[in-house]
Amino acid sequence: MSKFRTIWTTDDRYVEVIDQRLLPHELVIVKLTTYQQAVEAIKSMIVRGAPLIGATAAYGVYLAVREMIEKELNPDYLDTAFSELRASRPTAVNLFWALDKMQDALDNADNFLQTAWEMAGQIVEDDVETCRMIGVHGLPIIEALSKKKNGEVVNILTHCNAGMLGCIEWGTITSPIYQAAEKGIKVHVWVDETRPRNQGANLTCYELTKHGIDHTLIVDNTGGHLMQHGLVDMVIVGTDRTTRNGDVANKIGTYLKALAAKDNNVPFYVALPSTTLDTTIKDGLKEIPIEERNQEEVKYVVGKSASGKVEPVLICPDTTKAVNYGFDVTPARLVTKLITERGVCDASEEGILSLFPERQ
Ligand code: MRU
Repeated sequence: MSKFRTIWTTDDRYVEVIDQRLLPHELVIVKLTTYQQAVEAIKSMIVRGAPLIGATAAYGVYLAVREMIEKELNPDYLDTAFSELRASRPTAVNLFWALDKMQDALDNADNFLQTAWEMAGQIVEDDVETCRMIGVHGLPIIEALSKKKNGEVVNILTHCNAGMLGCIEWGTITSPIYQAAEKGIKVHVWVDETRPRNQGANLTCYELTKHGIDHTLIVDNTGGHLMQHGLVDMVIVGTDRTTRNGDVANKIGTYLKALAAKDNNVPFYVALPSTTLDTTIKDGLKEIPIEERNQEEVKYVVGKSASGKVEPVLICPDTTKAVNYGFDVTPARLVTKLITERGVCDASEEGILSLFPERQ
């Protein structure tokens, strides 16, 4: 695995991230020097993906502490930073988890700046290890499918981007895939383009290309057809929030893939870092807040035009209205297993608590 990361620091005055809105066409690094820039980076999806949103928010708190100390601002400044970061995106629970961790650390701190710096750094490092371990536990699943197929290619379908670009390194769904490929197992990934923002086409294809993983881009409606024809051995997706009962919120369209998988006896796995578990709620459909974004993201597709510019193109009459739900909820009954950093379990309260008893 390369040491390439999605968020890093080379100087304690700023944090660097990749502008994911421009990938795969342009690799532009953005420096975040204020918490407001961190808020904006999350809102505008310069950074996205549940674990990376959490890590960026944590560094956002660090930047706010820095500003507060340097400019001798009132402590209210930090409270405002926390509330603005909390309001940046609603669905991925990692955001709230990371902010709670930062708040707890600061509540017990003697040295605010050092504590914020260290805790943000720890959140980043922990995610790297968490994703690596998801790979360790997911690998035997791919290995077993490969054996069953006498070493033929294992076809894996994924939706959105739950790779390293959504995390720090490894990624959640890509970690087992990379570890399988490193072991010489033949894998091929069907990548859903994932409208409206095309995280599959833009980001998953980009990182699979970088890692030399054979993959094929498909439009979002193709998965069911592939499954009916025996061309998918497993589905694996990420998650933005998984409830105590094992209901899974992930990028809009995930639910339809789970339905098709069920109908075709294709196993449907969810790669779940425990930072994405929300054991305070049970019923995903009723209790997970689903982000609704700007309709322009549906009406326009962003891509590289013939002129070489990355730009939006209108795909419907100007006056047509659109609706843009960011996520949907896949009920636990459609999930074959959850793959976590502590092992594989059923998507149920019993399964989750067997691996995470401290969540009782
Ligand atoms: O809107 P996004 O791009 O932030 O949505 C991302 C996803 O839905 C990912 O599948 C999820 O965050 C898991 S990332 C490991």
